[in-house]
Amino acid sequence: MPALVLLGAQWGDEGKGKATDLLGGSVDYVVRYQGGNNAGHTVVVGDQKYALHLLPSGILSPGCTPVIGNGVVVDPSVLLSELSGLNERGVDTSKLLLSGNAHIITPYNVTVDKVTERFLGKRKIGTTGRGIGPTYADKINRVGIRVQDLYDESILTQKVEAALDVKNQILTKLYNRRAIAVDQVVEELLAYADKLAPYVADTVLVLNRALEEDKVVLFEGGQGTLLDIDHGTYPFVTSSNPTAGGACTGAGVGPTKISRVIGILKAYTTRVGAGPFPTELFDEDGEALRRIGGEKGVTTGRDRRCGWFDAVIARYATRVNGLTDFFLTKLDVLTGWEEIPVCVAYEIDGRRVEELPYSQTDFHHAKPVYEMLPGWNEDISKAKTFADLPKNAQAYVKALEEMSGAPISAIGVGPGRDETIEINSFI
Ligand code: GDP
Ligand code: IMO
Ligand code: MG
Repeated sequence: MPALVLLGAQWGDEGKGKATDLLGGSVDYVVRYQGGNNAGHTVVVGDQKYALHLLPSGILSPGCTPVIGNGVVVDPSVLLSELSGLNERGVDTSKLLLSGNAHIITPYNVTVDKVTERFLGKRKIGTTGRGIGPTYADKINRVGIRVQDLYDESILTQKVEAALDVKNQILTKLYNRRAIAVDQVVEELLAYADKLAPYVADTVLVLNRALEEDKVVLFEGGQGTLLDIDHGTYPFVTSSNPTAGGACTGAGVGPTKISRVIGILKAYTTRVGAGPFPTELFDEDGEALRRIGGEKGVTTGRDRRCGWFDAVIARYATRVNGLTDFFLTKLDVLTGWEEIPVCVAYEIDGRRVEELPYSQTDFHHAKPVYEMLPGWNEDISKAKTFADLPKNAQAYVKALEEMSGAPISAIGVGPGRDETIEINSFI
């Protein structure tokens, strides 16, 4: 049963794109199961750099079929421009499959996302402004528009009417904005129908048949465990389930089919947008991590907040996802520090706490308890095996593995495909 889930173990941007791309050559399908174009995955192949938002990173591997599952929210204009951008660079995208049950991010969902954030003022979440939350809200409220609705004008019109009935009241009366015309939205959405038609498929059937035939399927999460709507730092989260269970609902594959769950873990921590972050640094070390790690958002261009590695979070990710392996990324960024602090526990109101507190108030008060690990100065970007790493880098990896509760099976020492140390094979 070769189904693998690959997901972020922290607050996103752990290097999932690179890890997926690396495995893409050995898998038959790569499936996005949640989120939308709030994701930003950078993949470096040779001297080419790709920024993907909606397409699974497997799209860059010729033998692999990329799939956008039912749990994803799709902005059709972004999808089409991402496809044409790749085509212009010579990437064949014709194998893409798009679930007819995926929900569409409509122009009014994007408007509502932006005005809601503005209205929240200081209390804002710092969303990517891509309409993600409002689209999932419509889905749960049963007034969402699905890809398959583009192929029935009458149904589409009724659904847009139902959605706008309430939204226009809110937009005009609460937010003081102009009402959005049903006809205009329907016309805009219908214009995407023919362009998307070649990709639309019953992806649940396709994926389950593939698994029956012993094909290898990789589920690629967007965002990360701590941004999960159920298991993250609510309300400072995204509106979907990046955690492992999300792969089942978001792709229509049963949990008994999943054999491996790989957590992508940065050797330090970053976060974009608002919300608690115990190991966040506001000093020159934070600045250095941002500069050396190139920690700028791929989607919004915002500076990422940076901090030391947090083992409490990593342990939590192991637990809620049932992780079987970690892929540790960006170890090279830590080269040059004399000592590297690692957060091993929190101090909350004078108490030492080893596990992530379930109370939001406690988490907001959590202060990191650090253990200092010795650093290294040698360039590690050419290391091919664990033994090639300097002793202190080896000890850092081993310490993280011990604290995090799952084996570290690969280590990233640079952004390129080949800048990876493989310890245990994933497939
Ligand atoms: P994702 O959202 O999880 O796919 O991660 P992003 O692409 O947003 O951010 C990760 C960044 O780190 C990208 O610019 C990658 O090219 C880069 N990257 C990934 N792995 C490594 C690594 O091991 N070392 C270094 N230096 N960069 C890496
Ligand atoms: P990848 O896949 C990092 C954050 C936003 C905001 C919160 C809610 O590249 O790891 P949303 O627009 O989803 O409603 O915003 O979630 N966020 C991410 N942070 N990486 C991402 O994706 C993110 N996608 C959303 O910054 O705090
Ligand atoms: Mg990213």
